[in-house]
Amino acid sequence: MKLKSTSAIILIITFFVIVHYSQNKSKDQKKDIAQKVDSVLSLMTLDEKIGQLNQYNDDWQATGPITLDGDKENQILNGKVGSILNCMGAERTKSWQKIAMQSRLKIPLLFGQDVVHGYKTTFPIPLAESCSWDLEAVELSARISATEASASGIHWTFAPMVDIARDPRWGRVMEGAGEDTYLASKIAYARVKGFQGDKPGAINSLMACAKHFAAYGAAIGGRDYNSVDMSDRLLWEIYLPPFKAALDAGVATFMTSFNDINGVPSTANSYLLRDILKEKWGFEGFVVSDWGSVGEMIRHGNVKNEYEAARAAITAGCDMDMESRCYINNLEALVHDGKVPIALIDDAVKRILRKKFEIGLFDDPFRFCNSEREKKELNNPYHPAVARDMARKSIVLLKNENNLLPLSKDIKTIAFIGPLVKELKQNKGFWDVDVPGVDSNFIVSQWEGLKNKVGDKTNLLYAKGCDIEGENKNGFAEAIKIAEQADVIILSIGERRDMSGEAKSRSNLNIPGVQEDLLKELLTTGKPIVVLINTGRPLVFNFTVDNAQAVLYTWWLGSEAGNAIADLLFGDYNPSAKLTMTFPLSVGQIPIYYNHFNTGRPALNDEDRFYRSAYTDLSIYPKFEFGYGLSYTSFQYSELHLSKHKMKHDEKIEVSVTITNTGKYAGEEVVQLYLRDVVGSIARPVKELKDFKKIKLEPGESKTITFTIDSEKLSFYNQKLEWVAEPGEFELIIGASSRDIRLSDHFELVE
Ligand code: NOJ
Repeated sequence: MKLKSTSAIILIITFFVIVHYSQNKSKDQKKDIAQKVDSVLSLMTLDEKIGQLNQYNDDWQATGPITLDGDKENQILNGKVGSILNCMGAERTKSWQKIAMQSRLKIPLLFGQDVVHGYKTTFPIPLAESCSWDLEAVELSARISATEASASGIHWTFAPMVDIARDPRWGRVMEGAGEDTYLASKIAYARVKGFQGDKPGAINSLMACAKHFAAYGAAIGGRDYNSVDMSDRLLWEIYLPPFKAALDAGVATFMTSFNDINGVPSTANSYLLRDILKEKWGFEGFVVSDWGSVGEMIRHGNVKNEYEAARAAITAGCDMDMESRCYINNLEALVHDGKVPIALIDDAVKRILRKKFEIGLFDDPFRFCNSEREKKELNNPYHPAVARDMARKSIVLLKNENNLLPLSKDIKTIAFIGPLVKELKQNKGFWDVDVPGVDSNFIVSQWEGLKNKVGDKTNLLYAKGCDIEGENKNGFAEAIKIAEQADVIILSIGERRDMSGEAKSRSNLNIPGVQEDLLKELLTTGKPIVVLINTGRPLVFNFTVDNAQAVLYTWWLGSEAGNAIADLLFGDYNPSAKLTMTFPLSVGQIPIYYNHFNTGRPALNDEDRFYRSAYTDLSIYPKFEFGYGLSYTSFQYSELHLSKHKMKHDEKIEVSVTITNTGKYAGEEVVQLYLRDVVGSIARPVKELKDFKKIKLEPGESKTITFTIDSEKLSFYNQKLEWVAEPGEFELIIGASSRDIRLSDHFELVE
């Protein structure tokens, strides 16, 4: 006994010594880098300083309106460029870096790229990944992306996008983690950790960038780039926390957003960039503008010309100018005219140099451009396996009438129909990367995936049926012909990959073209139909859901799409994903999200149609709610137990609940914990996600899981914008979705 306690003491002392040592070590490193940054800065001319704040696009693969500039090489030689985006490949990055090494001070270039959901190996779009509710898997996906991209000479990804999105008309919902702040914050944290790894400068890591700061997802009407009109409470409570989570994970950079908030464009928003980010939150990295957003302020109308735009942005705290050229063309004059203090420029330069030191570029500017490593990592056989697993975890089973799925592997004939069946690149979705020299053959089409799965015994028939868009129904007859010979029909329909993404707002969220008409025709055969929906956003597809026997929402799953879909169709993986955005019944229901406030006349059910805050011609319910998703098995929730029913501010309540797999298949369940503050000093949401656990259970198996409630989980921003937990009653809700409530109880926070 005595021996045990002695070794425990030794262990504790060792732990503290290690912590102390590593804290000191990192303090020393920080000091060392700060000194080096100061010494480089002291050698720089004003011109060279401004050069560090200037970012250009490479001459290809533009992700914004490009100004091709034949003079880039000369500008790099003269120290007028700090960073290049969309420059990929060990060889190409090396060639630009070589030019930078001929400049007077030899300050290395930073190479940035939108590595959003994979580099060569493509993972599901971020919204799809969020439906996995699997933080480890999401982190691993970012890790692999970083491993590949960093081997290709890239230092910095413009990801994760952590914008909360409540409006599926906005095409960029595909890039985020959905509508919920709690879940999106956890995912933001995981993604930053995944991209950046454990310490800055690891050879297989990228610097991450939390974007778009801030509230870009709240663009009015879901129209991309549109204004945002938002209360401070909403900003702080719903839109800022994922950015804070990214910061807590150590994110290296932030990107401003295109929108204005309450009239002030984010790129010149000193409340956001200086007061909140750099002062209140103490962010030590640097802020990059979005593409051209410094110059675009002229069109916003808050500045007169590029000179004023540069002044407004640098003053507000935007350190690097992506592609607008306002900084490079105007900062020198602004300093000479006494409009911009040199200290502001110095601060921005120091922030950028610090990152270049941290990732080791001053030690070896070519350390990330190694063709051997690039070749090895881009062909690493482990990566597709991880992508396949992530893809399986991202597919949401929306309907499964009479347990049509999983299909038996003994099926004799399958008709695989639809415009997406044999596509390769469509599976990658928007914001994929076209890696130079890599063709699309490594992508597993849905057809290939199915063929890999069923082998020779099953007869696989194919017809395209129709295009994604357009009115042409000429292919219907062929589709019906093969459908009639089949035991089951699988229909793969949806959007084209460039229909969701940046600048892809849509007012009509129907499945495009005649694809649902094709389904209508196929239904006349009386054969069972499984529909796969490929897309980047929640669509409106009531006819499909109401008429097909089974529906899998497959999003865009990346390079392993075909294999992952086949795994689900045949039960080699049991669907476990749950929606992270509410799916509306019709576009007229948007915006619709689960954590809304009550009104004085709340809509409580569809029967009571008078004097309620709802539409007279629509149900109050969405088509599918936040947190919804089916499994091939079923789960029973029981034995909800709270360790106590009254807690003080410094106390905690342990909540336990038992989940039993009552079906035939092993499966995973996302158990969701919601809270409702019954009476607050201001109105509070009808429920808010405050925790979740994803657990795996064999048939018949039960597990008891626990959650901890502390006062942080009960807190919100009151009218004075103070973060408070107010005494009073709370409802605790355990659900299989935000609507499928399985158990509930109440507790009280006491003074
Ligand atoms: C504009 C997009 O808004 C941003 O997300 C992206 O990182 C940049 N272009 C660079 O491609």
